[in-house]
Amino acid sequence: MKFGVIGAGQMGAGIAQVAAQSGFTVVLRDMEDRFLERGRQVIERSLAKLSEKGKLDGTPEEVLGRMTFTTDLAAFADCDLVVEAIVENEGVKAQLFRDLGGIVKPEGILASNTSSIPITSLATASGRPERFIGMHFMNPVPLMQLVEVIRGYSTSDDTAAFVESTARKMGKTPLSCNDFPGFVSNRILMPMLNEAIQCVMEGVAEPEAIDGIMKLGMNHPMGPLTLADFIGLDTCLAIMEVLHRGLGDDKYRPSPLLRKMVQAGLLGRKSGRGFYTY
Ligand code: CAA
Ligand code: NAD
Repeated sequence: MKFGVIGAGQMGAGIAQVAAQSGFTVVLRDMEDRFLERGRQVIERSLAKLSEKGKLDGTPEEVLGRMTFTTDLAAFADCDLVVEAIVENEGVKAQLFRDLGGIVKPEGILASNTSSIPITSLATASGRPERFIGMHFMNPVPLMQLVEVIRGYSTSDDTAAFVESTARKMGKTPLSCNDFPGFVSNRILMPMLNEAIQCVMEGVAEPEAIDGIMKLGMNHPMGPLTLADFIGLDTCLAIMEVLHRGLGDDKYRPSPLLRKMVQAGLLGRKSGRGFYTY
């Protein structure tokens, strides 16, 4: 199978890596060579770590040998499955899917790794709604078990079955849900992260104390502010805006502090600074 991934950021690089680890031929695209190079370095570090721990089938070189890095969308023409993992912005994703709909072979399946944007509207943009689906991997992709599979209004049973079987071949567990804002994962997770940010803004406690309380008190692997920094504060804000618009309840209102930090360019781990400095 030829597996395409668009976006070589933290999610796209992880998805491409795990697809190549599973034996698929992978093509990974970003806008510029420097983003591809950054993605390749992330993949090389992750493969080295997995290999060191005996958790890799074959060698890192064999896995990398199944991957092609490109800025050219035409390289996706003969892909059986293309997973999009670019910025969390509906207009930008819809334009990409309009382009892909005219490039990828008609029987190819298109999927979005979006955290919250309606699958049905991206499916319409692609021009092949029955062969379109949400394939939502969790961060960090090489370590996390879940793939949330989101069926759009017109997604066919064959498409859902193919994507679920592909997720299993990648060593993941697919779980299905319907197309509602934020799906299940982020409808539940993001209000908690947003509330932690609101606690910082209101002076309820220092960031370290908020994270410590949730780690030690609730056995969460990461505190909510560490996790927000890890996901990316720009992505957290984009998801909260989709929840707020789509569900219409004030409990989904993005914290003003979250908005201000994104305006200031403090995006978390990926920009070097968020609630913590990296
Ligand atoms: N590839 C390979 N190895 C990796 C890695 C990667 N991408 N990331 C971390 N590791 C390694 C670390 O280097 C470390 O190796 P050593 O044992 O040799 O030091 C090992 O994995 C374990 O890491 P840590 O000891 O630092 O931390 P941990 O045991 O707590 O596990 C974790 C790390 C699995 C990420 C854990 O902290 C965790 O589960 N955190 C929560 C993650 C989470 O909630 N993800 C979902 C985010 S929401 C989302 O994804 C959806 C969305 O739309 C926003
Ligand atoms: P990121 O900022 O790390 O990476 C995005 C990448 O996409 C960048 O390298 C950028 O150059 C590239 N890009 C933008 N437009 C492009 C285009 N038209 N063609 C090719 N590449 C393009 O973001 P990320 O955290 O990897 O998130 C990507 C997607 O995955 C978003 O939709 C996000 O909501 C979703 N997601 C994120 C997480 C997370 O924890 N960060 C988890 C699950 C899903």
